[in-house]
Amino acid sequence: MPKANSNLLKLKKDYFFNKIEKKVLLKKESNKKILNLGIGDITQPLAPIVIEAIKFAADEMREEKTLKGYGPSTGYDFLKQKILDNDYKNFDIKIDEIFISSGMKYSLSNISDLFSEKSIVGILDPAYPLYTDANIINGRKQNIVYLPLLEENNFEPLLPKKKLDIIYLCSPNNPTGIAFSKKNLKNWVDYAKKNNSLIIFDGAYEAFITSKNTIKSIYEIENAKDVTIEMRSFSKKAGFTSLRCSYLVIPKNIKTLDNLSVNSLWNRYIDTKFGGISYPIQKAAEATYSLVGKTQIDEIILSYKKNTKYLLDGLKKLGYRAYGGIDSPYIWCKCPKNASSIDFFDRLLEKNIVTIPGIGFGSLGEGFVRFSGFANFETIKEALLNLGAL
Ligand SMILES: Cc1ncc(COP(=O)(O)O)c(C=O)c1O
Repeated sequence: MPKANSNLLKLKKDYFFNKIEKKVLLKKESNKKILNLGIGDITQPLAPIVIEAIKFAADEMREEKTLKGYGPSTGYDFLKQKILDNDYKNFDIKIDEIFISSGMKYSLSNISDLFSEKSIVGILDPAYPLYTDANIINGRKQNIVYLPLLEENNFEPLLPKKKLDIIYLCSPNNPTGIAFSKKNLKNWVDYAKKNNSLIIFDGAYEAFITSKNTIKSIYEIENAKDVTIEMRSFSKKAGFTSLRCSYLVIPKNIKTLDNLSVNSLWNRYIDTKFGGISYPIQKAAEATYSLVGKTQIDEIILSYKKNTKYLLDGLKKLGYRAYGGIDSPYIWCKCPKNASSIDFFDRLLEKNIVTIPGIGFGSLGEGFVRFSGFANFETIKEALLNLGAL
C-alpha cells in the first residue's frame, strides 16, 4: 500500500464541527424541537421552472435526435451566453473566459492546483474554511497569511505589509455577513496590480446584495480584469445546493509569473480532471435567467432576506451587537459578556437555538456566533422569543 499524502494529514481534524453536531443531535433526541439558525443551506423548495427544465432535459434523452453524450468540459455555450448577457452585460467578458463548474467548492479548492506550492496565500480570518484546507492539501500550510476581519474595521480586510501571490476575498462575506465597500475592494485591486498578485473573488452570495452602493462584481473596479478570477454559484442564488452548478470567470489576460495563461491552464486542468456537469443541470441553470425564472428566484431570495432582516432587528432590539444580514443571509453576533463562542453556542442550545460558533471559521471568529436567515419565519420568531427569555 502507498503512504498517505502527508499534506492531507496536516488538515485540522473535523473534531470541531463533529462535536457541535453531536451536541445538536443529543439535544434533538432529548427534546421536542430544535430551532436551527445555524444552517448555511437553502430551506425553500426550488423554483418550479428549475424542476421543469430538468424534466424537459431528461425527456430529451429519450430521442436519438435530442440525446446528449459527453458535453464540453468548460460547459455548454447556451448557459455561458446567458451568463454573459445577464451577469456581465456591461463588461468586456468573452464566452471563452467563462467556465461552468459543479458547485463552487470544486473550483475554489482546485484552482490553487494551478500555482506553485511556494506561492504566499492571503486568507481572510474568519472565513469559509475551504480556502485554508485547499492550500494545506497543496502543501502551503506554512505559506498562509491571515487577513484579519475586525469589528473596529467594520470587518473589512486591510492591506498586508507582506507581498501576497494569491488572495482569497469573499464578499458578501461568510461568516460576517458584510459586503466589502467598493473603496476597500479597489484598494485590493490596486494592491494586486502593484504586487502582481492574483485575487480569487468568491461571490457565492452576490444575489443577496441590494444596498445601493455595494458592487456585485469585482469587475466593476478598474483593472480588476487584469488580476481577478471571479466565481459565482447557483447554490444560494437559485437553490442548487443539491443540483450543483457554478461558474468562474478567468480573463485571458491573467498570466502567471512565468507568463502562462491562467485561462489555458484551467482549461487543460478541467479537461483532465473534470469533464463538465450534466446537461439537465445546465438547462436548469439556464432557466433561472428566463423572465419567469428571474421572478421565481427573486421571490425566494426576497423571503430569505426578509427573514434575515427580521432576525437582525430582533437581535438588535434584544441588545446584541449584530452585524451583516443586509446584503447576505448571515448575521455575525457578538457574544454577550465576553463569553467564548462555544459557551454562547451552548447557552443558546439550552434554549433550543442552533447557531455556529465563530471559532469554527478561524481564530478571529472567537467571541462571535453566526446566525443564518435560511431558516423559515416561524423558526426565527420562536427563536427570538426564546432569546428574549435568556
Ligand atoms: C463563501 C462560500 N463560498 C463557496 C461556497 C460553496 O458553494 P457551492 O455550493 O457552490 O459549492 C459556500 C457554501 O456555503 C460559501 O459559503
